[in-house]
Formats: sequence, structure tokens, C-alpha cells
Amino acid sequence: MSRQWTNPLRDPRDKRLPRIAGPSSLVIFGVTGDLSRKKLMPAIYDLAHRGLLPAGFSLVGFARREWEHQDFGEMVHDAVAEHARTTFRESVWNRLAEGIRFVPGTFDDDDSFDRLAQAVRELGEERGTGGNTAFYLSIPPWAFPVVTKQLARCGLADSDADTWRRVVIEKPFGHDLASAKELNNVVNDVFPEESVFRIDHYLGKETVQNILALRFANQLFEPIWNANHVDHVQITMAEDIGLGGRAGYYDGIGAARDVIQNHLLQLLAFTAMEEPLSFEPNALRAEKVKVLAATKALQPFDQTTARGQYAGGWQGGTKVPGLLQEDGFAKDSTTETYAAVTLEVQNRRWAGVPFYLRTGKRLGRRVTEIAVVFKRAPHLPFDSSSTEELGQNALVIRVQPDEGVTLRFGSKVPGTTMEVRDVTMDFGYGHAFTESSPEAYERLILDVLLGEPSLFPVNDEVELSWRILDPVLEHWAEHGAPESYQPGSWGPPSAEDLLARSGRHWRRP
Ligand code: BG6
Repeated sequence: MSRQWTNPLRDPRDKRLPRIAGPSSLVIFGVTGDLSRKKLMPAIYDLAHRGLLPAGFSLVGFARREWEHQDFGEMVHDAVAEHARTTFRESVWNRLAEGIRFVPGTFDDDDSFDRLAQAVRELGEERGTGGNTAFYLSIPPWAFPVVTKQLARCGLADSDADTWRRVVIEKPFGHDLASAKELNNVVNDVFPEESVFRIDHYLGKETVQNILALRFANQLFEPIWNANHVDHVQITMAEDIGLGGRAGYYDGIGAARDVIQNHLLQLLAFTAMEEPLSFEPNALRAEKVKVLAATKALQPFDQTTARGQYAGGWQGGTKVPGLLQEDGFAKDSTTETYAAVTLEVQNRRWAGVPFYLRTGKRLGRRVTEIAVVFKRAPHLPFDSSSTEELGQNALVIRVQPDEGVTLRFGSKVPGTTMEVRDVTMDFGYGHAFTESSPEAYERLILDVLLGEPSLFPVNDEVELSWRILDPVLEHWAEHGAPESYQPGSWGPPSAEDLLARSGRHWRRP
């Protein structure tokens, strides 16, 4: 039977083709902030460089500055030149610069938003954006209500059959369950849930999406991905940097709210969820909601959690201040810069398997990984002295910076005796692929413009994550200051005890 040939370059269903956003513009609030300069603007340039933005794409900045379009353009230029992933090309820049606009204004001023609405209308006429606009709120959550109400008042929140309007919000999505619900109500009052894109930039990372490929594109791992074979799971996000310059955001927030509530629980969800029916947005998110609903923090918290605050000292040959000496932090701040929790996913697949999540600043090195640690072999037919150093099998998903996957298993040491020792088998992105990984924000901004919501947590996920963490936060709030730990170490002593109690130990990545 002859097989009909379809040209993959013409087949609209071919998912390997680059996805290019349709006519649209992006309005950024909080345009002078760090996130905007270091991540958003460079990502927009990188998308333009890769040819993934539409011809008339426009970038609008809104801020309390007496700037002309050109002043804003210069700021974007400098941010791109310094932080973009791809090389700087005048031709790409010039094309992008044609669509750059600035609207000076304040959040509580109606005139400012009327001018913004006017700018959006003009872009529709001059650059063919069709009025399709995404509003990126890179601003503190207290400003969400006033900005979303202003957008509604001047008609900028209304989508119709021909024009879409979307809102992009950055964490923190509240500081506990009650405030998250309030925030969700405020946003949903103006934008329907399908127009709300909550950014968790970890989901934009290639290595995080690869968890799904590893699990669901292979036969090898899934049969042993359960409580029968897995002893425990460790999810680590360690950073070597401190919090200088971030007091305004971080003091009173701490490591658990900053990172565990969002990034680490999303990593847990990808690791522990069931196979989605398909990769349609709602199917994937439904599985994440299910697994988060089954997840609980294990008690008693004085034994199952740990928190710490970095002290001053030496880190890699440099003298660094402790948190309490960093500019802007209260001198008696009890904000934790290290947090570890023990969770359990209470379903048939995972019952009894602890998921240990930890994160911290000023630790030994920057590394994010998920280690699935397997049970020991039930019987070893070797002389026990020959297997003395043998650990447990582990599959380690290296999220960053050395992106890849490692499998650890026992192997015979060359020689005349049957000595067995741990070895590793490595897959590294840098070796296997010639393409470099796009930045998380490139993928996510493109998805917003395409209206592709799979990688954006729904409000149920946000609320369930707070439901998991709130009891731990309440316990900590009643128990005074965190322990201090040395910069360059792997956290406070109680973190070691947390695992040592069950005869386990943290990996030293
Ligand atoms: C952010 C946190 O969400 O993620 C920061 O607020 C943290 O505290 C950052 O430093 C880490 O991101 P990445 O992509 O460098 O791991």
C-alpha cells in the first residue's frame, strides 16, 4: 500500500515547526525593576532574534518616570545588550525598537490608564497588533487590585471574538492560603481564569519539562516509579548567592514562601503525578491538581522540618555578611534563608515515601536537582566487605546548572575480587544536543502570546500549595528564630538530623 507523503514543512499539524506568535503587544508594569531588566526584556529580544515574534510586535512600558519612548528604548537596549542569551544584532534590535512605546503614569491615575488605552488602540492601527495585548504585572501584589481595576475601567481587560486580552502575574501569589484566595478573587473579578497566566519560571526550564518526557516517553522508569521501589525523593534547590539588595521583597517572606510554595512543589507535582490523558493544557493541570491535593506535610514539624538563617563568615575565600547585616533587613529578622520540609503524597503510588524538599541561600553551590532514591536490593549475594561502599540506586534529574540526568548503580571494580562499588551513567544536554536551551522566560512569554496555558499553574494549584505549606509556616511562626548556619555550608544542623533520624542523608551535589 502506498503511503501518502505529506510535506512536514506545510503540514500545520507538525509540532516540530517553530510556533510564531500572532499579531500582539506586551505591556509591562514594573518595567524599571530587576526582573524586567534581567529577564523579560532580554527574553523578548531573544524571541525576536529567533524570529518567533510577529512583524508588528510592540513592547509598551508603563512606569512613574518622565520618559519619552526613546528613553525607554535606551533602557531596553542596555538591558538586552547586557543580559540577552543570543548575540546582539543591530538589524534585530532596530526592528524591535520600532515597536517600543512608553506611557508615563501612576497606578491610581485614571488619565495615565486612558493614555495607555489610547496607546494600545494606536498600536492596533499603526502596527497591526489587532489590539491583542498581554499585561505583565511585574509589580508587588498590593498593586494588583488597583491595576486590574484600572484595566477594566478603561476597557483594556475585555476580550472578544477578534481581540484577546491576557494578564500575566508573577509570584508571590499571596503569603498564605487566605491571602492567595483574596488575590485570585481580585484578578478573576476582572480577567476570566483562561486569560490569567501565572508565571512559575521553573516550568519554563527545559530540564523541568524533560521530567515529563523522561517519565512518559519511556518504558524504563515508570514501572519502578512508586512506593514498591522508591525509598525516598530529594528535591534540592540550592543557591550560593545571598540576599543583598532584596530585603524589600524577602524580609518577612523567607525561603519556604519564596521557593518551596511554588518552584519546588511544582517539581514535586511533575515527579509524582499520574500520566496525563494528553498534553492538552487542562489534562496536564488536572493531574497536577490531583497530586497536590494528595500531598501533606508530615508531622511532628520539629522533627520533619528545618529552617535556618545564614550567618556572616567566609564563602569561597570571600568575607560575606550574615542576613542580619544585609542592607534593609530588620536587625532582629526571623526570616529563614534555608528551609527543608518532609512531605508525603498520600495515594496508592506513593504512600510511605517521604519527599524531602530543601532550599537555601549562601549554600555550598548553586544546584537544582531531583533525586529519586531507590530501595536497597533485598539481598546481596556478595561478601559484605566487598560491598561496603555501596549506596542506593538513584536517578537524578539535574535541573541546573549542569543540565542532564544521572543514574547511579553498583558495578564491579576491576580486579580479582568481586568488589562492587557505585558508579554513575550520565546524560548531559551539552553533549547530546547541539541546540542550547532557551531561557525559561522566552518559552513562557511566547506561550502567553500564543495563548498556550499548559505551563502556567491554575489558581487551584496555587491554593493547594498554600494548603500544604500553611501548617508548617504556622508552626515556625510560633517557634521563634531560625538556627544560624555558616555561608558555604549545606544548611543548619537540624537539616541533617531531619534525615538522619530515618538513617538517610542528604546528597552533596
Ligand atoms: C526566584 C526566587 O523565583 O527564583 C529567587 O524569588 C531565586 O529567590 C530565583 O533566586 C532562582 O531562579 P533560578 O532560575 O536562577 O534558579
